[in-house]
Amino acid sequence: MSTETTTEPQCRRALIYHLRDVVKTREAEGVAFRLRVPNLQIAVGEKIALIGESGCGKSTLLDMLVFILQPSDTGAFCFRPDADAEPRDVDAYWKHGMLNELGDLRKRHIGYVMQTGGLLPYLTVHDNMNLCRSVLGLRRDGTVEHLAEELGIAPHLGKLPDSLSTGERQRVAIGRALAHRPSIVIADEPTASLDPYAAEKIMSLFIQLANEFNTTVILASHAWRHVKELGLRRLAHQTQHLEDGKLTETVVSG
Ligand SMILES: Nc1ncnc2c1ncn2[C@@H]1O[C@H](COP(=O)(O)OP(=O)(O)OP(=O)(O)O)[C@@H](O)[C@H]1O
Ligand SMILES: [Mg+2]
Repeated sequence: MSTETTTEPQCRRALIYHLRDVVKTREAEGVAFRLRVPNLQIAVGEKIALIGESGCGKSTLLDMLVFILQPSDTGAFCFRPDADAEPRDVDAYWKHGMLNELGDLRKRHIGYVMQTGGLLPYLTVHDNMNLCRSVLGLRRDGTVEHLAEELGIAPHLGKLPDSLSTGERQRVAIGRALAHRPSIVIADEPTASLDPYAAEKIMSLFIQLANEFNTTVILASHAWRHVKELGLRRLAHQTQHLEDGKLTETVVSG
């Protein structure tokens, strides 16, 4: 691997993520959205929440943090999932078209709970939860069963996702993101379609499991009341409408 993708001087060593002047612009039908991140620093083990209204750019930020979405412009984008290794210069990976390496970083270090769930309909609950473990070649050690038990979905391990309730599917998605014990879990509205009581219960289970696994958590949610009770650090963001409403800009930092 080329050294320029691993040791940029601006990558601060103690941080899992360090973003400086990262911008993503998205445009459709003459209406544009811009997300600006002047400075974002996330330390190992932190639990962070981005709380905001629909369309403010939560998924846009998370998709950049899991290397699915390439920023339009980057001052610095450093990722250091492993304290014993050099920080990775994600911007250089993008610029050199090193998509396999980005995919590999994601696979090894990040669990992603997608806003849409993202369960594979033709795999059983067990195999969905075991997916990242099997891709990484990890042996069966009871982690999937333990998580299923903790999340209250153990009786459903042999079923297909279609036969589960929305809340059960969301618990499977959370279990899947944790099962390969990644150092980071990123969760996009993991309880969005649940009633407030169920959402609160699942969110606190999620944080409890993340604590047990010593995982850094970054999540997007509307449900700030519950998130605050769980002691997460809230990222500041501000949204404004510019150019006669043709451009919406959100600035996130923290
Ligand atoms: N593929 C795309 N092409 C163009 N614009 C997009 C695309 N995806 C999202 N956008 C726009 O970017 C803005 C931010 O979208 P994003 O999905 O990040 O918001 P969000 O905060 O996650 O919203 P929600 O709470 O509804 O999930 C929105 O104005 C949206 O219309
Ligand atoms: Mg979203």
